[in-house]
Amino acid sequence: MAFPLYILPKRFLPLLRLDKRLDFASYVDDQFQASYTHTFLVPPFLRSVRENLNNHLGDILPAITEEMSYAIHRELNSSEDWQPIIAFEKVLRVIGLVSGRVNVGLPTSRTDEWLNLYIQYPIEVFSALSEICKFPKILRPIAQHIIPQIRRIKQIQTRVCEILAPEYESRRSTLKGGKDRAKIDTMLQWTWENSKEEERTDTFQSRMQIVSAVPTLYTVSLAATQCIFDLAMRPEYIPAIRDEFDSVLESLQGNINKEALGKLVKLDSFMKESQRLNPLSLASFERKTKEAITLPDGTFLAKGSHVAAPAYSIGHDQEFFEDPENFDGLRFYRLQATENNRRPMHHYVSVSETSLGFGYGRHACPGRWFAAIEIKLFLAFLTHDYDIEAVEIGDDRPRSTIDQFFIYPDASKMVALRRRKF
Ligand code: HEM
Repeated sequence: MAFPLYILPKRFLPLLRLDKRLDFASYVDDQFQASYTHTFLVPPFLRSVRENLNNHLGDILPAITEEMSYAIHRELNSSEDWQPIIAFEKVLRVIGLVSGRVNVGLPTSRTDEWLNLYIQYPIEVFSALSEICKFPKILRPIAQHIIPQIRRIKQIQTRVCEILAPEYESRRSTLKGGKDRAKIDTMLQWTWENSKEEERTDTFQSRMQIVSAVPTLYTVSLAATQCIFDLAMRPEYIPAIRDEFDSVLESLQGNINKEALGKLVKLDSFMKESQRLNPLSLASFERKTKEAITLPDGTFLAKGSHVAAPAYSIGHDQEFFEDPENFDGLRFYRLQATENNRRPMHHYVSVSETSLGFGYGRHACPGRWFAAIEIKLFLAFLTHDYDIEAVEIGDDRPRSTIDQFFIYPDASKMVALRRRKF
C-alpha cells in the first residue's frame, strides 16, 4: 500500500458506521493518488448518482435493456459453434456501451472513438496508480512526468473535452428542460444541473464524465467478469438461471421492469457469491480520519489516519460463512428464503458487517442498484442467448491478482461462447 492503514476489527464497524469524523473523498484522493491520476470524487457526480440516477432507474430501464441487447449483438459472436473470447476485453465493451448510454447518451456513446476512450481511461488510471506507487512519495512530483500512463490520461481528458464540448455549448445556449426524455435522463445532463455556475466549464464537466468511467464502467466490468468466470467454471448453474429468467419473462409478457429484475433471485445470489469470493478490493469502508479518534480498545488514530474493514477476510471467514472457500451460487438465495424474505439482508445490493463488497455506512456505494441492474441484465441475456464454457482453464478458475488492495480478474483469460439454437 502507498500509506499505513489501520484495519478495523468487525466489532467496531457498527460504532463507526455513521461517524462523520471518517471521510471518504479524501481517502479516495490518497488511494487514487488524485493529484497524479486526476481521479477525483466530486459533489455534482455524487449527487447525480444518489438523487437523479437512483430515482430514475425505472425510467431509464427500457434504454438500459435496449442498449444491453444492442451491445451483446454488436460485440459477441453470432456463431452456433464455440468461439473463444477474452472475457474482460468483451465485458468492457458491452458494459462500456450500456454505461456510456446512461452517461453521455446516444449517439456519442455508440461511436468507436468515445467507446475506446471511455474503456481506455480507467485502464490507464489503474495502471498509472500502480506505477506512481512504485516511487517514494517525495519523488512522485518528478516521477509523474516519466510515467506514460499519466501522459495518456491527460491526452484522453483533452480529447473527451473536445468531443463533449458541443453538448455543453448547447446547454449554455438553450434551455433543454422537459423536451427529449432520452437525452435528458443522462448523467451528463444531471451532473450539469447539479453543478455550480463556476463548475460549468467544458474542462470540469468533461473530466467528471470520463473520471466516472472508473465506477460506472470499470468496477462493473470487473464484477461482471468475475461472474462470467464463475459461470464458465460452473455451468451447472446455467439451467436454473435460464429457467428463472424465462419464467419471469413469461409472467410479465416479456416486459423487463424493475419488478422482473427483482424476481431474478437465483441470479442475484450467484452474483453475490461471486462478489463474496472475489470482491473489488481486499478492504472496504476505507476512510481517512478528519480528527483524532480513540477506539474502544484504546487504539489512538491520529487525524489523517487511514482506516478500513477487512472485506475479503470477513467474506472468507467460516465464522460467518459455512464452508467459505466453496463457491455456492445459491447460498444467499437459501439464506434469504430461510429468513422468509422479511428483510432483504442477503441481496446483491445489501450491505452489512459481513457483506462489505459495496462498502458500508454513510458512503456505501450509491451506484450499486444501477450496477446490479447492468450485471443482472448482462448475465440473464448472456445465459439466455449463449452456452458458456471454460477455455484452456483446466480445473482451476482463473486466478485474480491483487495490486494496491484491488482485486483484478485475469484479463488474459478466455471463455467460449456458442449461440443457442431456438
Ligand atoms: C459492481 C460494481 C461496483 C462496486 C463493486 C462498487 C463498490 C464501491 C465501494 C466498495 C465503494 C466505497 C463504499 C464505502 O467505502 O463505504 C463505492 C463508492 C462509490 N461508488 Fe461504487 N461500486 C460499483 C459500481 C458503481 C457505479 C455503477 C456507480 C455510479 C453509477 C458507483 C458510484 C460510487 C460512488 C459515487 C461512490 C462514493 C460514495 C460516497 O462518497 O458516498 N459505483 N463503490
